[in-house]
Amino acid sequence: MMEHDIVNLLDQAAAARERAYAPYSHFPVGAAVLTESGEVYTGCNIENASYGATCCAERVALFKAVSEGNKDIRAIAVVASGEEAVPPCGICRQVMIELAPQAVVAMANLEGKREIRRVSELLPGPFGGDFL
Ligand code: THU
Repeated sequence: MMEHDIVNLLDQAAAARERAYAPYSHFPVGAAVLTESGEVYTGCNIENASYGATCCAERVALFKAVSEGNKDIRAIAVVASGEEAVPPCGICRQVMIELAPQAVVAMANLEGKREIRRVSELLPGPFGGDFL
């Protein structure tokens, strides 16, 4: 992963954040995933009055990539407001380990404070298909 790939992906995640549907939490989140072939799929959080039906930005982006036939994912970017770079929730980490186990995750806040981790670092000791 080159620095400019990460910057570009974070920019696209920030743009996707503007499209968030977050009338309940008022916490918009944007995500973008980069595939091996260079395509980018973006996502934003999409909430629901039945709160549990909400889908996080990361999962929207990952599901878009996979549903369009691109399941080789190199990197995932996530952007939200806050003091620190936003970490993905536990459900999204589980989805990441399933669909993008080799990927790098770039997390950032709106001021550009960044953290970069591998999916495998974000979810040690995962439950996966090998157990089934
Ligand atoms: N959310 C995300 O979209 N991604 C994260 O990494 C953290 C949480 C969303 C879910 C919900 O719409 C709002 O942020 C507050 O939890």
